[in-house]
Amino acid sequence: MKTSRIPGFYSEPIEKRLTSLAEASGLNQMDLAKFQNLAGLSIEQANHMVENVIGIYSLPLGLALNFIVNGREVLVPMAIEEPSVVAGASFMAKLARARGGFTASTTPPEMIGQIQLLDIGDLSAARATLLANKESLLQEANQVDPVLIKLGGGARDLEIRTIENSAIGPFLVIHLIYDVRDAMGANAINTACERLAPRIEELTKGRVHLRILSNLADRRLARASCVIPLDELAFDSFSGEQVRDGIIEAWAFAASDPYRAATHNKGIMNGVDAVVIATGNDWRAIEAGAHAYAARSGSYTSLSSWSKDADGNLTGSLEMPMAVGIIGGATRVHPGAGAALKLMGVTSSAQLAEIIASVGLAQNLAALRALATEGIQRGHMTLHARQVAIAAGASGTEIDRLAARMVSENAVRIDRAEEILKGRISNHD
Ligand code: MEV
Repeated sequence: MKTSRIPGFYSEPIEKRLTSLAEASGLNQMDLAKFQNLAGLSIEQANHMVENVIGIYSLPLGLALNFIVNGREVLVPMAIEEPSVVAGASFMAKLARARGGFTASTTPPEMIGQIQLLDIGDLSAARATLLANKESLLQEANQVDPVLIKLGGGARDLEIRTIENSAIGPFLVIHLIYDVRDAMGANAINTACERLAPRIEELTKGRVHLRILSNLADRRLARASCVIPLDELAFDSFSGEQVRDGIIEAWAFAASDPYRAATHNKGIMNGVDAVVIATGNDWRAIEAGAHAYAARSGSYTSLSSWSKDADGNLTGSLEMPMAVGIIGGATRVHPGAGAALKLMGVTSSAQLAEIIASVGLAQNLAALRALATEGIQRGHMTLHARQVAIAAGASGTEIDRLAARMVSENAVRIDRAEEILKGRISNHD
């Protein structure tokens, strides 16, 4: 990747954008074709992915510009239906460039598998037996995927928790900690849990019930941070200090109120999910992990935090579970997902997780900056107006003209769009 800055990209026709993208990224025509609608996924491929296939469902694929993550320029593909998201991420990544972009890191790709153990008389004796046999159980778990072991992954630890439940009484839960390297890891960990079950029953004389991964992947975290200088924050009549303090106040609201935190985190997930989907990863797993992590203290709160540094700059950080892979599942089967990974030049699941966390933080900043200043609707409406214009039947250059007219009238509505279209837009456009 030469650069993630492509000035004027927004206003280029799609054909020209592909040429600009080829120049900036070094991708060839074959790779680029994989991003094009139907070439992304064939009906035959789809038929192998899920059951009862009758078609393919498409989403727009936008390109987020301006990102630098850990000193590396990166163009980020985002699959999303909501206007403003791609533009918001790109704009905030541009502000972050002044201080070198985003710094990101990950913890090891360790997933948690849960094994529920019931019908044990003496919980502490069963716990002691399991711990005494920990090494042999870990070795057993390592039998399921020799390739993963060769790559440096595999079983890392066994933890035993006692859970109290008034309906069925106390029981044990065994957590198998499993390093899945560059896979999302659901298959590896589920297979390992199923493999351990008979041995655990034999050792404890109990009954193993559920054997499944936990989506609260709190040992597999991604972190991103950025610093935005004050002069990058100032715009229109808003001073840098005003914007910075407004963003910190908006964050404080989310940090202390679950009603606001849900919306605040939804804004983060706008960016996160779009990249997760574009790369063929499991966005429900990421959503589940994010919200469970946000509630880990017992009260649901913000996944990000914003403050000012000693020089008065705005600083932001985000930490969340990020169980994404670059091998296995749809990441390899879906040609568009493969091309997305290639475009970003990621060589490990950690690198992908770092980019996704950076996009999540940028997206959060975009929302807070708008909310803390002019409000979210102005930017939103301009883009939304184009969708309304298309829905009303506008085509070609009519779309932007009709959208601009509705925004200037402050009437972005289908009935008004149809009315204006009847006169084929006319007068002030
Ligand atoms: C809209 O999709 C996302 C926002 O609501 C996020 C937020 O309120 O922080 C704008």
